[in-house]
Amino acid sequence: MNWVIASSFTLLSIATLCNAAIYEIDQEGFADFIDNSQFEVLSYDEIIEIGYDRYVPTPPAGQHSSAFYLKDAVAPQYTNSHTFASSGAVTFEATYFCDNTISEFEVRFSYPWQDHFLVLCGPTSGSTPGVWQTKTKNFYCVSAQGCSKIDIWLYGITVSPGAIVGLQHLRIATNGSPLPTTTTSSPNTATTTNAPTEPAGQGLNCYSCANCPYVDHNTNHLQRDEYHTCVLTFFGSTIIRGGSTEENYSGDCLMHDGVMDCYCHSHLCNGQNITVS
Ligand SMILES: *[C@@H]1O[C@H](CO)[C@@H](O)[C@H](O)[C@H]1NC(C)=O
Ligand SMILES: *[C@@H]1O[C@H](CO)[C@@H](O)[C@H](O)[C@H]1NC(C)=O
Repeated sequence: MNWVIASSFTLLSIATLCNAAIYEIDQEGFADFIDNSQFEVLSYDEIIEIGYDRYVPTPPAGQHSSAFYLKDAVAPQYTNSHTFASSGAVTFEATYFCDNTISEFEVRFSYPWQDHFLVLCGPTSGSTPGVWQTKTKNFYCVSAQGCSKIDIWLYGITVSPGAIVGLQHLRIATNGSPLPTTTTSSPNTATTTNAPTEPAGQGLNCYSCANCPYVDHNTNHLQRDEYHTCVLTFFGSTIIRGGSTEENYSGDCLMHDGVMDCYCHSHLCNGQNITVS
């Protein structure tokens, strides 16, 4: 376990369930969550090595720092969960990165806490694509019986090659306490200015969406220089659409790891409505 316990009161408060505890998960600490998911802890050096620094700017903790990433086209992923004692409101503070696709990334937690999650990336997140940023949010215990613990895990889905989301730092304050205002390694700011501004691209224009069996004029699409084919992916009954750097698969459907990818090579050709039975 790489949980960093940031408060000297923490051990006492875990024992009594009364006082606040502050938990901090930083960089390599997220390795404890991976379990069987396709999330990875990668250093920024590794991000540069695979050429993804054209999507992800230097993280707040620096040129050699690590973060928890999910990348390329993967079906919905769930990490394992960790349990924290808490009887009052819980405050989360996440320092994270979203790309400009509709990839989704959420800090999820169990009932009887409010029945929504800390949405980091995705169409409803309100986050800014292409920059590292920090979001803070409170959630309240809504059970009439009261709360004694919260189980926390991470969810993500990335929708095309080059799609990537990242989380470098997560702080959790339990029992209704505020988070201390100083952070150790990540500046509390969304003002990163060196984000790669992604040009629309001259490559193929492909629908880019997850859980989208039907396509209409509101469906997200993305044109990128490196797209040579559009892909329609079947993962069980989940339909994912995106672009691909593969060019030699046109017209083919390929089965791999329980996923079927169907490739085509004209603009918005991955827009068929799919009836899932
Ligand atoms: C696909 O479904 C959407 C939503 O039901 C509809 O608006 C659209 O016209 C359909 N497209 C085709 C090609 O059938
Ligand atoms: C596509 O091209 C790559 C590189 O030339 C090759 O390794 C791969 O086997 C090809 N795949 C198919 C399905 O033709």
